[in-house]
Amino acid sequence: SGSSRRKTGPAASKSDETSGISHLLRRPSLFDAAGPVLRRLDPERAHALTLKTLEQGLVPRPKQVDHPLLATKLFGLTLTNPIGVAAGFDKDARVPDAMIGLGFGFTEVGTLTPRPQEGNPKPRVFRLTDDRAIINRNGFNNAGHEAALAKLQSRPRVGCVGVNIGANKDSADRQADYVRGITAFYGVASYFMVNVSSPNTPGLRDLQAPETIAQLLGSVLQERNRLADRTGRRVPIAIKLAPDIATDDLPPMIESISKTGVDGIAVSNTTVARPASLNASAQVAAEAGGLSGRPLFDASTRMLARVHKLTDGAVPLIGIGGIENAATGLAKVKAGATAIQIYTGLVYAGPELAANIKDGLVRAIQSEKLSSVADLVGRDRDRWLEAN
Ligand code: FNR
Repeated sequence: SGSSRRKTGPAASKSDETSGISHLLRRPSLFDAAGPVLRRLDPERAHALTLKTLEQGLVPRPKQVDHPLLATKLFGLTLTNPIGVAAGFDKDARVPDAMIGLGFGFTEVGTLTPRPQEGNPKPRVFRLTDDRAIINRNGFNNAGHEAALAKLQSRPRVGCVGVNIGANKDSADRQADYVRGITAFYGVASYFMVNVSSPNTPGLRDLQAPETIAQLLGSVLQERNRLADRTGRRVPIAIKLAPDIATDDLPPMIESISKTGVDGIAVSNTTVARPASLNASAQVAAEAGGLSGRPLFDASTRMLARVHKLTDGAVPLIGIGGIENAATGLAKVKAGATAIQIYTGLVYAGPELAANIKDGLVRAIQSEKLSSVADLVGRDRDRWLEAN
């Protein structure tokens, strides 16, 4: 297992600060004694325990009502606040209501593939504590459509819960896997996220090529339209992109995506790049996989601003990558995000992050004398473009 590696790994001594679970478990005194033990767990085990704890309802919920200024329309959905949980945190739809109970305005389960999948051998998740970052090469480990569907069918149909869909690694027809995702989850998804940007399924990101993406989105949207006609309910569909798209490749890709009439674009997934500024040891930095967290913030935010410009602000964007406090959450919105999502920041800052960002957004709206989050969206876009 990964735990022995953590003890010998260069970052092991730093892991005490950031087990990921210590924050979630801070209040229940039952767990105070267990803290030091938990903090020695490798990241994936800490995550598993976090999910189990949330699943059992052991985390106290801050029963606050969101400030009315935070109300947000995202592809026609009404959110009480624009801060969401990014895909990968709750792959198998075990804790959507717990996350919304923690104060998030929405959550995204998955990535889900039709058949259950083990993912890559462990260890496959690495903390870069000094960088407030994670490298993961999970490879779509998930329990498959059927199991997640059962979970989603057994919950009350309230709150915004998106379903992130992908393809099995060994699928003979990856496009068909995405269409199957739409069919399977149509009755329970608030929206769909088409994930063609994970770096950990070989060849997956090739689906981002302009002609390929148009074809894939075409069949996904066709299935959505068929089901919308049949059910009278139109479920929005968004696509999630990688931050590693070459500058010149972005305009044709966004043009191709926009033409399909997709409802939204999420920017971005993890990066395969390794910024020279990383503090992590060369050994950890060289682990294969996608890098997330603080070192992803600049690149993903710049790409977000570019996509906002390329789409004339007409396509709702979800901003993801390196949000770790109120300032970075606000910056993401001002760069062009209608809503934002977080994963790595949650591991390092804990769930109070949502409340902090919400406070920051309300303060910014009030001090700039605006009337909603929507008024903040894209305000700093051109500054981000110049910074390039
Ligand atoms: C992810 N991410 C992810 N994205 C996705 O679309 N499907 C997935 O299954 C996963 N799995 C996953 C696992 C782990 C361990 C991490 C850290 C990340 C990517 C995630 O949703 C997000 O796009 C990036 O992590 C960037 O945001 P943060 O982490 O910097 O806030």
